[in-house]
Amino acid sequence: MGVERQQKPKREALLYSVSCKAIAVGASLLFLCYLSGCAKTVSQDDTPLPEQIVSEIEQESPAQSSQNVVTVSYPADMAVMEYNLLSISLSLLQGSSDLIEVEVNSQIKTSIVPRRKVECLSVPLELGLNKINIIAKKEDRIADEVALNVFRRSDLVGNYEKPPAGFEKDYFHMKDRPQCAACHHLWEPAEADNKTINIETYAAEVSKDKAPVPADSSCYSCHRGIASCSFVHGPAFVWSCLTCHDARGEPKYSLKYPVPELCYKCHWEQKQQRSGKKNYHAPYITDKCCMCHNPHASENPCRLDRPVWLLCVSCHPGQADGRHVVAPYFWGTRHRKHPTRGIPDPSRKGHELTCASCHDPHASDFPMFISKYGPRSFDLCKKCHYRRDKS
Ligand code: HEC
Ligand code: HEC
Ligand code: HEC
Ligand code: HEC
Ligand code: HEC
Ligand code: HEC
Ligand code: HEC
Ligand code: HEC
Repeated sequence: MGVERQQKPKREALLYSVSCKAIAVGASLLFLCYLSGCAKTVSQDDTPLPEQIVSEIEQESPAQSSQNVVTVSYPADMAVMEYNLLSISLSLLQGSSDLIEVEVNSQIKTSIVPRRKVECLSVPLELGLNKINIIAKKEDRIADEVALNVFRRSDLVGNYEKPPAGFEKDYFHMKDRPQCAACHHLWEPAEADNKTINIETYAAEVSKDKAPVPADSSCYSCHRGIASCSFVHGPAFVWSCLTCHDARGEPKYSLKYPVPELCYKCHWEQKQQRSGKKNYHAPYITDKCCMCHNPHASENPCRLDRPVWLLCVSCHPGQADGRHVVAPYFWGTRHRKHPTRGIPDPSRKGHELTCASCHDPHASDFPMFISKYGPRSFDLCKKCHYRRDKS
């Protein structure tokens, strides 16, 4: 079950960067910690694996090749994932490889020099089908190869809502994973996972020297990738994972409260803003906050899953060209387009013009959630086009 291989691009190093505008000081502190790779719960490089565990790993392996140089302990073939990073744990026949490359859809995403019998890594997933190919090399020759398929699902992008037949969600924490618990803190969460955070005092607290150390969290050794983005959500930034996830939940680590109740536990002001508006955006009023906002981290402000413009046009492709802005106002100008991105927004200093320059993404008192100064149609346009009139 080899995977067709095309010309190989240059190796991509896994880049980690943790920084956040609002909490830059805390970020740089934690970043130092991060660089020092202080995954305390994980055993040292040369700790030998208990023999019993090794044989369990070998027996349970779903994806195994004939040569047995590489055995994939996790994930299972045909698994469904929601998240953009895939965790992989490999068990290796020692001395039979000097390089492990992981390809996703024929592109090398990461490579490591194996040092242990067990190697763990994570690779980014694309939406939809991901053909994962794990190649073990010895002196530049392929010693072994294991292929598996993973489907990354998405509520946001229509074609990827439903996985194809045969693919199944494999809840990691619903099974005892003795082959992982041998090295990772997995049975019971650590004390640090339960720390509480207060949104009022958060900004002041994380900038202090005693900002929490991510490695104190038992989740960190496996989920470190979840917070390595430019914009990290406060509670995830301090690895307070169990403020939202329930260690006694079913499935384990499911959410303590449904969204948006969960969000309102801290963002109580959002709950107040929610009532009394005349018009509500469908995904907002149906509580799909996480269709737009990532609860952990992303590369976009407000941790939007995509930059605003891309986010909006993933559901409204017809509005991308801006024709809809001018057409209703100027008769016979259907060909005319209004910019919707790529230039500064005259009404919001330092922001780019996007769909959110004219529409409130949540709700407003005006039709189409337009954000404007007054009740008349052209009041919106005046926000940007007649600014000189006012002083
Ligand atoms: C022999 C000990 C050992 C076993 C067994 C083990 N791990 Fe790991 N794992 C480690 C070490 C050590 C690291 C840290 C690696 C590093 O810092 O490069 C790690 C890191 C990870 C990471 C983070 C990888 C990344 O790059 O983000 C994940 C995910 C992971 N392990 C999952 C698992 C799973 C799932 C299992 C069980 C199938 C497992 N591990 C079994 C030792 C082990
Ligand atoms: C041994 C490594 C490991 C540790 C430790 C770990 N996880 Fe996970 N977790 C995984 C893997 C692997 C997945 C599957 C998704 C993936 O590939 O990243 C997962 C999935 C999840 C999910 C999605 C539901 C599921 O069961 O698939 C949640 C929620 C979660 N982890 C929360 C946590 C929290 C909270 C902690 C700390 C209290 C934690 N995890 C500790 C490896 C780990
Ligand atoms: C503010 C609340 C919140 C915090 C804090 C939080 N999570 Fe989550 N997490 C969520 C929500 C909400 C989802 C479900 C996302 C969705 O519906 O798309 C989720 C989903 C997940 C998943 C499954 C990803 C997937 O889509 O399959 C993992 C793994 C996970 N969280 C791990 C963690 C870890 C590790 C931490 C600690 C750093 C953490 N979470 C902190 C709210 C939170
Ligand atoms: C445990 C408390 C807590 C919970 C629960 C929580 N948040 Fe937050 N949130 C914070 C803190 C603290 C900040 C400020 C630091 C930051 O920007 O990350 C924040 C900031 C934000 C911001 C950026 C606000 C801004 O003005 O820039 C957004 C958006 C957000 N949260 C959305 C959510 C959503 C959606 C949920 C529910 C899935 C949620 N939050 C749940 C604590 C929480
Ligand atoms: C359709 C996508 C979408 C949905 C659904 C959505 N948001 Fe937002 N949200 C945004 C965008 C876009 C912004 C940034 C607007 C901007 O650029 O001015 C934002 C900003 C925010 C902010 C920070 C700015 C502010 O208004 O204070 C918070 C907090 C927030 N959202 C919470 C939530 C919560 C809670 C929910 C669910 C009840 C939710 N959002 C649902 C798109 C969405
Ligand atoms: C997850 C999908 C989704 C995303 C993302 C999304 N929308 Fe929507 N939007 C909808 C749905 C569903 C409706 C209601 C369907 C309808 O009435 O046409 C809607 C309705 C609207 C309407 C009113 C249309 C009407 O005819 O009443 C406007 C305006 C709008 N969205 C703007 C935006 C903007 C701006 C963004 C980006 C901040 C955005 N949407 C992001 C799904 C989405
Ligand atoms: C310069 C302001 C402006 C910008 C930028 C803008 N819109 Fe609009 N949008 C409007 C106005 C005004 C209307 C109402 C038009 C009408 O009265 O029919 C509207 C209507 C809509 C509607 C519902 C009406 C329809 O044609 O179905 C949707 C959906 C929508 N916009 C989405 C978007 C998206 C997505 C973007 C970004 C790609 C965007 N808008 C950018 C001003 C804007
Ligand atoms: C958020 C700011 C903003 C709002 C609101 C806005 N515009 Fe614009 N508009 C711009 C910018 C920026 C440009 C491009 C720069 C320029 O030509 O001045 C532009 C350009 C235009 C153009 C010229 C397009 C072309 O063909 O070159 C027209 C016509 C126009 N706007 C009409 C409108 C109308 C009608 C409204 C109200 C429905 C409106 N605008 C609302 C910012 C805005």
